[in-house]
Amino acid sequence: MSNGTPILKLGKHQPRYPLIQGGMGVGISGPRLAGNAARRGAVGTIASVGLSHNSPHFLLKKMNYFESNEIVIKEVVQQAREIAGPEGILAVNCMVALTDYDTEVRAAAEGGANVIVSGAGLPLRLPEYTKDFPDVALVPIVSSAKAASLITRRWEKRYGRSPDGFVVETPATAGGHLGATAMEQVYDPALSIEVALPDTVRFVAEEMKSDIPVIAAGGVWDRKDMERMFELGAKGVQMGTRFACTVEGDASDRFKQAYIDAKEEDVVLIHSPAGLPGRAIKNPFVAKYLDGEVESNPCFANCLTHCRYRKTRETFCIAMALVDAFNGDWERGLFFCGSNVVKVHKVETVEEIIGELFAESTFGDDGR
Ligand SMILES: Cc1cc2nc3c(=O)[nH]c(=O)nc-3n(C[C@H](O)[C@H](O)[C@H](O)COP(=O)(O)O)c2cc1C
Repeated sequence: MSNGTPILKLGKHQPRYPLIQGGMGVGISGPRLAGNAARRGAVGTIASVGLSHNSPHFLLKKMNYFESNEIVIKEVVQQAREIAGPEGILAVNCMVALTDYDTEVRAAAEGGANVIVSGAGLPLRLPEYTKDFPDVALVPIVSSAKAASLITRRWEKRYGRSPDGFVVETPATAGGHLGATAMEQVYDPALSIEVALPDTVRFVAEEMKSDIPVIAAGGVWDRKDMERMFELGAKGVQMGTRFACTVEGDASDRFKQAYIDAKEEDVVLIHSPAGLPGRAIKNPFVAKYLDGEVESNPCFANCLTHCRYRKTRETFCIAMALVDAFNGDWERGLFFCGSNVVKVHKVETVEEIIGELFAESTFGDDGR
C-alpha cells in the first residue's frame, strides 16, 4: 500500500493498530478475548449483552438479571483491564435493542471502558448516558451513510457533540444480528461495503467536515481484505468471526469446534426474535427453527425491547439460545457467525492474527 497503514483515532484513544476486535454476544467476546486483543494493540471489545448469565450474582438468585448485569459489566471491564494493561484500548459493545441499554452503557463507562460501540438500532440517545464521561469515545454502528447522517444531526442538535467514528457493517457478510430491516435487504447492493463505506466516508468529509474515522466491518479475514477496506477509505477494520475462534476467545471449545467444522452450506440466515435477520450455523436447533418446529427455553430476562417470543411466543428465547451456544450445546444453541466462518480451520491466538495482519506494516502520518 502506498500510503501505509492508517492511524486509527477514536476520540482521545489511539490503538497501535487500526483494528477493532468486534463485540460478540452472548459472552463470546468477554474479558479474555477483549483484554488480549487490547494488550496486543487492537481495540478489544466486550459485548455487554447477557454477561451476567453465569455470574454468581444472578445464579444464586440474590439479584434480578438487570441488577446483576450492571455489576457484572463493571467487573468484566476491570478483568479485561488487568489483561490489557493501562495503555490498552477497551471498548464495550452495547446493543440499542436491549431493555437495559442505558444502564449497560452507564455501567461500561463507569467500569472504565475507553470506547462505547453501539448498534442493533440507532443509538440516538447515547451521549445522554455518557455525559459524565467526556473521555469515552462514542462509535455508532451503521449500515449506510443515511443512518450516520441521522445520528449525527440528532446528536449535534440535542447534545452538541458528534460521533467519534462510525463502524460501517455490511449485512452481506457480517455475523450476529444484521443491519437490515428485512431478509431481502441483506444482499441489497446499497448496503454492500463497496457502496456504504465510501458513501459514509464522503458524508464525514463533505457534510460533517470532519476527519473522524470510518471503520469497515463484515467479511474482513486477512491483510488483503483489510487493505481493500483502506483503499475504499476506511481508517480501520472491525473483525468478529476470526477472533471468536481463538485460544483467548471466551466461548467453550465446542463453540470453537462448530466454527472449525462449518461448511458453506451450513451458513444460513434466520429471522431473529428481535425482528432483524441474523447469520448463523445450521445446527439441529436452527434446522428445526427453519422447519417451523423449534421448541424454546422459557423467556430468560425480558432482555429485548421488541421480542417476538416474549410478545406472541413466536420464534424462541434468543438470550437462552445464545447462552447455550456459548456453553457449547450443539443441539440447542444458536451459533451466530459471519460468512467467513468457512475459512476457520483451526484455533489461532490473538497474537498470530494480529501479527499476520500487520507484519512489516508501514504506518501513515506519524509512523508509530
Ligand atoms: C458470534 C457473534 C456474535 C456477535 N454479537 C454481536 C453483538 O452482540 N453486538 C454487535 O454489535 N455485533 C455483534 N456481532 C458482530 C461483530 O461485532 C462484527 O461486527 C462482525 O462479526 C464483523 O464481521 P465478521 O464476522 O465477518 O468479521 C457478532 C458477531 C458474531 C460472529
